[in-house]
Amino acid sequence: MKRTLIKETHSNIDKEVTLIGWVDTRRDMGKMVFIELKDRTGVIQCTLLPDVSDEAKATAAEIRPQFVISVTGKVVKRPEKMVNADKPFGDVELVVSALEIINSSETPPFPLETDGTEIKEELRLEYRYLDMRRDRVRRNMVVRSQVFSMIRDIMRDLEFLEIDTPVLTKGTPEGAREYLVPARNKPGEFYVLPQSPQQFKQLLMVGGLEKYFQIARCFRDEDVRADRHQEFIQLDIEMSFVTQEEVMDLDERIMVTLIEQIQNYKVTDKDWPEWAEFVKNPPRLQSKEFPVMTYAEAMEKFGTDKPDIRNNKDDPTEFAFLWVVDFPLFEDAGDGKLASSHHPFTMPHPDDMDKLDSDPLSVRSYAYDLVLNGYEVGGGSVRIHDPELQKKIFTLLGVEDEQQEIKFGHLLRAFEYGVPPHGGIAHGLGRLLMILLNEPSIREVIPFPKTGDGNDLLMGAPSPVPDHRLDEAHIKIKK
Ligand code: AMO
Repeated sequence: MKRTLIKETHSNIDKEVTLIGWVDTRRDMGKMVFIELKDRTGVIQCTLLPDVSDEAKATAAEIRPQFVISVTGKVVKRPEKMVNADKPFGDVELVVSALEIINSSETPPFPLETDGTEIKEELRLEYRYLDMRRDRVRRNMVVRSQVFSMIRDIMRDLEFLEIDTPVLTKGTPEGAREYLVPARNKPGEFYVLPQSPQQFKQLLMVGGLEKYFQIARCFRDEDVRADRHQEFIQLDIEMSFVTQEEVMDLDERIMVTLIEQIQNYKVTDKDWPEWAEFVKNPPRLQSKEFPVMTYAEAMEKFGTDKPDIRNNKDDPTEFAFLWVVDFPLFEDAGDGKLASSHHPFTMPHPDDMDKLDSDPLSVRSYAYDLVLNGYEVGGGSVRIHDPELQKKIFTLLGVEDEQQEIKFGHLLRAFEYGVPPHGGIAHGLGRLLMILLNEPSIREVIPFPKTGDGNDLLMGAPSPVPDHRLDEAHIKIKK
C-alpha cells in the first residue's frame, strides 16, 4: 500500500501524504473533527476543517477507535501556541482532504490507553492482540526484540556460533516435570520437549564446535510464578577448554557489554520510538565487576541463594549483579536419596572429590548462578568430561546401570571419543527483560503468555482432540 509513515511527516511539511493506521481517539467538535491516528512510528493529529468535503465528513462520522483507516491530506506545522511539546508529533498535524475506512473494529473489551494494571489479567491474555496495542506491552515487545538482536551481535562478536537444537527429543534432567509428545510411528513411545538444550550443547562440544550459543526455547511443566513460565527463552552458552573463572569472566563481559550498549545507544530514525524512549533512561550497573559469594556465605548472611545486594531497591534503574558459587553438588531428595542441585552433568569440586561416597551432601560443585536484583538470571556449571566420573554420579543419584544406558547411553558413548573439558551457562531472558523493564511478572514481557495454570486463553489450549487423532497417537483417555 502506498503510504507515508507518521515519522516521515516532519520531512513532508506542506506536502500531501496518505497515512494509514489505527484510530486512537476521535473527537467531534461539531464543525471540526479531530482524529488521533497511530502507526508503528507514532501518533499524529488529523484535523477535518469545516470546509472538508461532505463525503469526508460522513466517513469521519462513522469512524471509531481502533478502526483501520487511510487518511490523505496536507502535513502542516502547527502554530507556535498550538504545539504539544510532550508529543513527538505534537508540532505537526494532517489537514484531511479524504478519508477511507479500511476496516472497522468492535469496541475493545477493555481500555487500551492505560497501562492495563486495572484490567483482569485473564481478559488481557484472551485478547492479547488488542492488549498489544497498549503502549506498555508494545514497549516490552520492542525492547525484547532489540535486546535479543543485541545479544546475537555480541555473541557473534565473541566468535560464538549460533546453533539450534531439537525440540522433539529425549528428556534431559533439570529438575522439572517434562512435556511429552506421543510418537505416531512408535506406539507407546514419546518425544520429550527439552527443559534446556543441556545435552545437545555438550554434544556440540564433543563435535568440536568449541563455542556455541542459542536463543533457545525451553519447556518445563511446573507451576507458574511471577518469574517463571512453562515455556521460556534462554540465552544458552557452552564453551570448550574453559575453567569456571573463564566462563564467569566471559559471561560477565556479555552482560556488561549488553548494559553498556544500551547506555551508549545512538538512536537513529530507523529505531522504534519505544526503544528510543527506553534508552533515555538506561539501567545503571552497581559495579562493572560482579562480586562473588559462595553459596554457604549467601545462605548464612542473607538466608537465600539469590541475595538482592542493591544499594537502593527503590531505584528501578539500579542493576546489581552477583555471582553465587560453590553450590552443593547434591541435595537431599528424601528417603535417603540424592538429587542434583544443578544437573547431573555438573563437575564436583576437585577438593571434595574424596567425599563423594562418604559424605556426598557436603560435596561442593563447579556450579554458579548469576543473580540480578534478587533474581536468578543465569545458572551454569563446568561439566564432567570423564565417562567414569559421570557414571559414578549417575549411580550416586540412584540411576542403575541399565537405566544409565537407556537414559544417557548416547552421552556416555560420546564421551569415549575425545571429549574436551567444557562448561557453560544459560540465562533466563524473560527474567532479564522483566527486570530491565521493571515489570512485576515475566508474563508482561512474553508475547503470548499462558495463565498461571498453563492455559493459553487466546488460542484455547490445551484442548481436547478428536478420537481419530488420539487413535493415531495410540492414546486412550482414562475416564
Ligand atoms: P537452569 O535450570 O538454572 O540451568 O536455568 C537457567 C536459567 O533459566 C531461567 N529459568 C527460567 N526462566 C523462566 N521460566 C522458567 N520456568 C525458568 N527456569 C529457568 C533462570 C535460570 O537461571 N542447562 C542449564 C544451564 C547450564 O548448566 O548451562 C539450565 O537450564 O534464569
